[in-house]
Amino acid sequence: MNETHRGRLTREGIRIHEAADFAGMHRAGALAAQILDEIAEHVFVGQTTAAIDKLIEDRVNASGAKSATIGYKGYQHASCISVNHVVCHGIPGDKVLKDGDILNVDVTVIVDGWFGDTSRMYVAGKLSRKSERLIQVTHDALMKGIEAVRPGNTFGDIGHAIQSYVEAHRMSVVRDFCGHGLGRVFHSPPNVLHYGRAGSGPTLEEGMFFTIEPMVNLGRPETKVLADDWTAVTRDKSLSAQFEHSIGVTASGAEIFTLSPAGKFHPTWE
Ligand code: MF3
Ligand code: CO
Ligand code: CO
Repeated sequence: MNETHRGRLTREGIRIHEAADFAGMHRAGALAAQILDEIAEHVFVGQTTAAIDKLIEDRVNASGAKSATIGYKGYQHASCISVNHVVCHGIPGDKVLKDGDILNVDVTVIVDGWFGDTSRMYVAGKLSRKSERLIQVTHDALMKGIEAVRPGNTFGDIGHAIQSYVEAHRMSVVRDFCGHGLGRVFHSPPNVLHYGRAGSGPTLEEGMFFTIEPMVNLGRPETKVLADDWTAVTRDKSLSAQFEHSIGVTASGAEIFTLSPAGKFHPTWE
């Protein structure tokens, strides 16, 4: 059997990985998460997003891993850094962070062929009450989604758990971007929607690997992509937040591959 494509595919084209594959994902996920831990002290007022990206690229190279994003569809950076009303795919640049800016940093690394994809929120300076609330609801929505992961549940159950939680807090779930299968590839079936109907969509099976990465807006859910063809922003300019984990379905639930080794997944956690 081909090393790069072990296991079988469901009829929806979702790969069912073998028990031994969890270890590879664990190594990739841990490195991505550790890099996000390490940049926390480098996010401050006056810092540029390019400088943060440079630290990430250097750290990926020093570890002997590879960046999954450099060269991906022409993208040239080791991270996406999405500030304030940028929903996702913000391009690192000479933009200087100012007091109260909130930002998502998204890193994907390849370790021994396995992809580890994770993102989390940071703040420069003082976190406002409004931003803190958005970040907390987004984080908790991701965890509600992960709690819905177990064999026999469906992808719709994940989306429903996230959407109902977010909307109960009078915020909105972005529809234009979704999570994705991953493993020895970056993006594979299925599309993991962060909204939906309980019981809809493919059934979860042990051995599926995918991301859950809800984007939540304080205002309306609509987005638009800027002229650089990457940067997605909220149409109404409202603040947006996102958290992302890479996970695997186990016999009884989910294994999170991208847990923070230092316990710093959330900006108010030390
Ligand atoms: N890491 C992103 C994701 O969660 C994808 C970034 S692709 C890039 O799927 F090219 F914009 F970096
Ligand atoms: Co992803
Ligand atoms: Co990502």
